Amino acid sequence: MRQSTVLKALILFTGILGFLACGEKRAPINFPRTDLAQENLIPKPLKITPTHTAFGLDRYTAIYTSQNELGFAAVGEFLAKKIKEKTKLDLWVNDHGDEGVKRIIYINQSDSTTLQAPEAYQLYINRDSVIINASTAAGAFRGIQTLRQLIPEESNDTLAEQRIWPIASGKIEDRPNFEYRGSMLDVARHFFSVEDVKKYIDLLAYYKINVLHLHLSDDQGWRIEIKSWPRLTEVGGSTEVGGGPGGFYTQEDYTEIVEYAAARYITIVPEIDMPGHTNAASVAYPILNGNGKTPELYTGMRVGFSTFDAQKDTVYAFIDDVVEEIAALTPGPYFHIGGDESHVTKKKDYILFVNKVEKIVQKHGKRMIGWDEIVQADIDSTTIAQHWATRENAIAAAKNGSKVILSPAKKAYLDMQYDTLSKFGLHWAAYIPVDTAYIWTPEKLIEGIPLENILGIEAPLWSETISTIDELEYLAFPRMIGYSELSWTTEENRDWENYRVRLANQAPFLDRMDVKYYPSKLIDWKKSKYTYETIEKD
Ligand code: ACM
Repeated sequence: MRQSTVLKALILFTGILGFLACGEKRAPINFPRTDLAQENLIPKPLKITPTHTAFGLDRYTAIYTSQNELGFAAVGEFLAKKIKEKTKLDLWVNDHGDEGVKRIIYINQSDSTTLQAPEAYQLYINRDSVIINASTAAGAFRGIQTLRQLIPEESNDTLAEQRIWPIASGKIEDRPNFEYRGSMLDVARHFFSVEDVKKYIDLLAYYKINVLHLHLSDDQGWRIEIKSWPRLTEVGGSTEVGGGPGGFYTQEDYTEIVEYAAARYITIVPEIDMPGHTNAASVAYPILNGNGKTPELYTGMRVGFSTFDAQKDTVYAFIDDVVEEIAALTPGPYFHIGGDESHVTKKKDYILFVNKVEKIVQKHGKRMIGWDEIVQADIDSTTIAQHWATRENAIAAAKNGSKVILSPAKKAYLDMQYDTLSKFGLHWAAYIPVDTAYIWTPEKLIEGIPLENILGIEAPLWSETISTIDELEYLAFPRMIGYSELSWTTEENRDWENYRVRLANQAPFLDRMDVKYYPSKLIDWKKSKYTYETIEKD
């Protein structure tokens, strides 16, 4: 049985008094008046109540967490690691070492009725304590991202003998507006290493994104090892757009990504795109091919020329093996089957194919997602349509009782160029400057889709024109930060003029993380003396 909240609070309180009593006498710290409501938080929290004083983060601070609850101690360790990277402070977690502890950060499991929404948290910042309440470790994890954002990039050396990072005081009550808040990375057109994906995950986590969709196969490459069909990666993984070496994730690599994401409460959604976008698979195993041509490795950028043969049993046996192996490595609830741009698949074959593959995905315990074209088939109401192109498809999905993920290409495609001068990206859907990416209302994007049918928002990053992490970052940042706010923050709390100031103040963090973001002229980027070069890497 869980310790009751009251009992835990009592233990905590006695603990604090004990530590304060054995610590050195507290020197009074006079902070300037703060305003928690003016801090540069993204995504903007639901409710902020400032109290105009500050918590002084310093070497006499310790982190405590609920310990009976799965994941809370790990959230505390994660916070300590991030505080160390930012400030070099080495804080104790669930221990108080030799130094007197004067202030605490307590990450507390609470069953309060106000915390029942998934990922909800409360953050209380007082002069001597910071308390994060959440019912789940996922909520606590979102809460510590808010705390990380409140810690100044630079300490205020004038305040005390030892370095102190003042954190504005007050109360934050917060929960996400949409349950699905994602980005997609196309590792098929160009391959990105495990290290690159991990860096992207770290950046997404800081902005409370909770889904990373990996586009693992396309005409130009197959990127995940399938043990029962080894030529998929041996042959199909051997190239990429432009003729580079390609690459693939072994099952161990993929598991490493899944676990890294899970530790940041990010769900990996694997996508095997089919029946179109399948040239690489058909080169590896020509029996899969349905377009009547002898397949050869493809390194160009055209779409819509390949298809699986929807009439062959072997194709479904193959898909069963692929879905089984990937599902076994994927703890998240979803499996994405692509389904877009199958221009050379006959319509009746396409419908047959999607209907059959949906059953396979369900057999392996996953909920199917597909690009919005899948509504032409007889999809189950539990299947999710990802809207990218055709409004009618999104409306039909909602009518079917299905949830819809909003990824409108004109607003949310990260691979669209910012403007005519952009070094990378395409513009077939639109140019998407930083303001256009932010100024739209997902809740009202498509008349005919009730709010309860919108699962959330995802910003896809297709990789035809990018092949390095720097290029990835150029397209993803800063726009991805705006999509985090569009998916987490309520409509009433979103405002471009207010957002652009908070975004400008992300520069010191992005610089410290060595993110090569696009320095859009629409934003008055804050200059930081605290650049990446001044930080030693651990
Ligand atoms: C897509 O952009 N073909 C989903």
